[in-house]
Amino acid sequence: TNLLILNGPNLNLLGTREPGVYGSHTLDDIEQLCASAAGAHGWGVACSQSNHEGELVDAIHAAAETADGIVINAGAYTHTSIALRDAIAGVGLPAVEVHISNVHQREEFRHHSYLSAVVDAVIVGAGVDGYRLAVDHLVRKLTRDDK
Ligand code: DQA
Repeated sequence: TNLLILNGPNLNLLGTREPGVYGSHTLDDIEQLCASAAGAHGWGVACSQSNHEGELVDAIHAAAETADGIVINAGAYTHTSIALRDAIAGVGLPAVEVHISNVHQREEFRHHSYLSAVVDAVIVGAGVDGYRLAVDHLVRKLTRDDK
């Protein structure tokens, strides 16, 4: 079983980007953390990052063929993208929305997410550990008989 770990714009800069907000972990660290969290259950991950909205839409569509669930941090597109919301709803895979920072403690424009209504769970403010929580949630959900 496979999970897509999808990161959006500017998350490739993690490690050097606003470390006071996002910490010092890199995207590579996050992808390794997801691989080991999934690997502990015998699952695999496919990791992808893009700064382009349409590429993120394409990655979600492709996941319908290759993955059983999606962990997504859409970065700023969270707050703007109806297209990403429709893509997640359209493929019908269970998804977890992750934000490293607690967006609710930040600017008003980060308080609304277009994605939250179409995902299974939202994890905000847990730092990069949120990705592990998201992987664990999907593993549990997908291995339960009554999913
Ligand atoms: C973020 C929060 C977003 O508001 C921001 O645009 C990001 C990162 C987070 O992980 O905390 O790029 O999704």
